[in-house]
Amino acid sequence: MNKEQSMDSKVVICPSMLSADSTQLGQQLLAVESAGADRIHWDIMDGNYVEAITFGSHVVAAHRKLTSLPFDVHLMVDDPDRHIDNFASAGADLLIVHPETCKHLHRTLQKIKNLGKEVGVALNPSTPIEVISYCIEMLDVVLVMTVNPGSSGQKFIDSQLKKISVLRKILLPKTEICVDGGINPSTLKKCLENGANNCVTGAFLFNSNSYADAINTLKSTTKLSTT
Ligand code: DX5
Ligand code: ZN
Repeated sequence: MNKEQSMDSKVVICPSMLSADSTQLGQQLLAVESAGADRIHWDIMDGNYVEAITFGSHVVAAHRKLTSLPFDVHLMVDDPDRHIDNFASAGADLLIVHPETCKHLHRTLQKIKNLGKEVGVALNPSTPIEVISYCIEMLDVVLVMTVNPGSSGQKFIDSQLKKISVLRKILLPKTEICVDGGINPSTLKKCLENGANNCVTGAFLFNSNSYADAINTLKSTTKLSTT
């Protein structure tokens, strides 16, 4: 990427509703939209694959009426095939699955594609890149987990930077690398330098005093890292 191109490219900021105030999810969504969020990230946890239980498809569907921002649905659930239709109908634009949870990963990705949705795979910190070797052409997004899945507010795991740089070399140019977990301006900068495009933000954004300032800071981090 040359300097001119890199100055034009903007990081896409995806707030995770898991970190929002649960008593006012709709207002929080509208607040981050006004502050400049590009997509909304829904962390779906089933109490099995990860300990926590979070949002059902009815919650996603209810919020679909509030905004036209794209919805990312990050499925941290066992056997996601059972839930893909429901979340697609609820208004997901991108469905992300973890390879460990799929009986037949290729088939699951094909199912998402056949529904007309964008296809994403999430790689845990310990998950090798090889699991997606033969599915690469199907992928719109690889979500690199820079923490272990299950909760917000965890510390960024530096070893994932190497994974990002290897992925950038083997993925198709159109495939987005989004980083998820422990993102702040300093960790985002390292991710971008290694080839990530976009980020999920939870605690950094929702604990800030100004959502607009937090989002602008993340977006300007991109520019600093690419000049
Ligand atoms: C972790 C989730 C993340 C996380 C992001 O399982 O996938 O989306 O909640 O939150 P922060 O930015 O606080 O790590
Ligand atoms: Zn997530």
